Amino acid sequence: MSTDKNITSVLKETRQFPPQTEFVAQANVNAAERERLAEWAKSDPDGFWAEQGRSLHWFKPWDAVLDWTNVPHAKWFVGGTINASFNCLDRHLAARGNKAAIVWEGEPGDTRTLTYQQLHREVCKFANALKGLGVGKGDRVTIYMPMVPETAVAMLACARIGAMHSVVFGGFSADAVADRNNDAQSKLVITADGGWRRGKVVPLKANVDAALEKSPSVQKCVVLNRCNTAVEMKPGRDVWWHDLVADASADCPAEELDSEHPLFILYTSGSTGKPKGVLHTTGGYLLGTSLTHKWVFDIKEDDVYWCTADVGWITGHSYIVYGPLCNGATVVMYEGAPNQPREDRFWEIVAKYKVTILYTAPTAIRAFIKWGDQHPKAHDLSSLRLLGSVGEPINPEAWIWYHNVIGGGRCPIVDTWWQTETGAIMISPLPGAVATKPGSATKPLPGIQAEVVDKQGHPVPAGSGGFLVVKRPWPSMMRTIYGDDERYKATYWSNYPGVYFTADGARQDEDGYIWVMGRVDDVLNVSGHRLSTMEVESALVQHPKVAEAAVVGRPDDLKGEGIVCFVTLKQGTNPSDELKTELKAHVVHNIGALARPDDVRFSETLPKTRSGKIMRRFLRDIAAGRQTTGDATTLEDFAVLAKLREDDE
Ligand code: WTA
Repeated sequence: MSTDKNITSVLKETRQFPPQTEFVAQANVNAAERERLAEWAKSDPDGFWAEQGRSLHWFKPWDAVLDWTNVPHAKWFVGGTINASFNCLDRHLAARGNKAAIVWEGEPGDTRTLTYQQLHREVCKFANALKGLGVGKGDRVTIYMPMVPETAVAMLACARIGAMHSVVFGGFSADAVADRNNDAQSKLVITADGGWRRGKVVPLKANVDAALEKSPSVQKCVVLNRCNTAVEMKPGRDVWWHDLVADASADCPAEELDSEHPLFILYTSGSTGKPKGVLHTTGGYLLGTSLTHKWVFDIKEDDVYWCTADVGWITGHSYIVYGPLCNGATVVMYEGAPNQPREDRFWEIVAKYKVTILYTAPTAIRAFIKWGDQHPKAHDLSSLRLLGSVGEPINPEAWIWYHNVIGGGRCPIVDTWWQTETGAIMISPLPGAVATKPGSATKPLPGIQAEVVDKQGHPVPAGSGGFLVVKRPWPSMMRTIYGDDERYKATYWSNYPGVYFTADGARQDEDGYIWVMGRVDDVLNVSGHRLSTMEVESALVQHPKVAEAAVVGRPDDLKGEGIVCFVTLKQGTNPSDELKTELKAHVVHNIGALARPDDVRFSETLPKTRSGKIMRRFLRDIAAGRQTTGDATTLEDFAVLAKLREDDE
């Protein structure tokens, strides 16, 4: 095994990609401008953010840029009034009314384009329909939809009337939908009969029916007919989308909302079994997403921008809906799987719509590599000018492939680090300003004070591992965990008083570049999706044959991390392969397909410390042992993260 040699070679990894001259010449931000912005943000943060904030439309200007007196509860653009839907739609009507806002392609190949004018009309009608159903300012609305334009319409309609949306990823199970309905006390659920995924219909409405048996707060359910499948419509509760909007007025002025009015809740996994409802508010979030979209993606009027994330995740919220639409961009949206009908679907879409900017995830890139170069090579990808990556660390090999095979060696890659909680991109190269290094998200954006520190909060020396923190509040930061402010304070602000704790391990090199390694808490990153080990454990112990369970991640060449479950069975139960299959299916049923365990191992006992804590580090080593990857960065990071966690003391 040549691990040592590999590690040495990775540490010596010196490949650097300075921005190319032609790109710099047309860039929204060049190196000098980036420097100026960063310096300004440091010396006069309020003045800096005030100037940025003026890029939005405000009904009434703010009195103060930031109120950080009640730490850790920031208020941004205090006293200002604004509407996110107005900023994403009405503001563009005069100059961009006939410009394509959403260019959509369904998995079966059906297509639709909505101009800003048309999107505005759909949103206004649906917003009036929502009002007709009794939804008003501050109410919570669950959106459990496929990737169709109506999902964006539903979100923007909520924003228009000041209702908070809670989008639940369409891959989650009925139980997960019910939990989120109950936690948010949602009044309404918006769904579809189904959505297309790998040639099959995902039965969204049937899942909602099961969820609503356990969601007493939900009074009504709006159903979009996407797939023409037969669904049960419960009289008095369920209503078709097309019936609702048929007679709805297209006149719906946007509500004037306080800058800090809640825009949405988005559930994400934390260290415990219970997902956290991350709360974002209006003014700061909209500024963070639109500004970073302009800077990082270098967006121009003629760009065709495609973010391949699902709207059910923060990436979809910030970089399919709010950021790009606020900037008046043309957004491509695709409903289905990347390998339906063939493994070249993405490249077909890029060529067909002449996509100029592509934003996707390392797990997808690794799948493309596996599927073979012949798929991208069969299509004309020359329209592409910029590539992005998000969701997990990108291994240098995948980066280089993305650069060469997809980007033709000419497109800068922006590796963007951020979280559901941060709302917008925090660490990323600006493509016309910062030389990239494969595997590093490079440097914090101007105005973002991210650092790598030790346990005491002191900066670590170059090359050493530490914890990634953010030392100053920023506009798009989360405001609290919905309904659980104590957990908000404990999770993010108790390690370092007044400093935001990301729960990521990272190191900084001699050039100040940040290399994010992964989570130091019990959150797994499976194909770029966050999952808590405890969520999976609590699903397992709900099975009648399971006595105890411990779940850990292990490095996985394709998914980043795979899920390994160690299970002790109740007395009298015999381990078997059938039971393994049954337990995997049980977890999928409880949480969703994204949580399907890669491996279930039966064990008579689980290794514990004297105080009774499960020795996770030990289990992680065992889990990784059988299938370690050849990728030295992954192995090295695995070791560093284990040390940072120090969880078995
Ligand atoms: C990880 C997704 C390395 C990280 C936007 C973070 C990354 C978690 C990167 C948040 C990146 C995201 N490089 N790691 N470019 N982007 N992560 O909330 O561990 O779904 O804490 O937000 O993903 O995941 P979330």
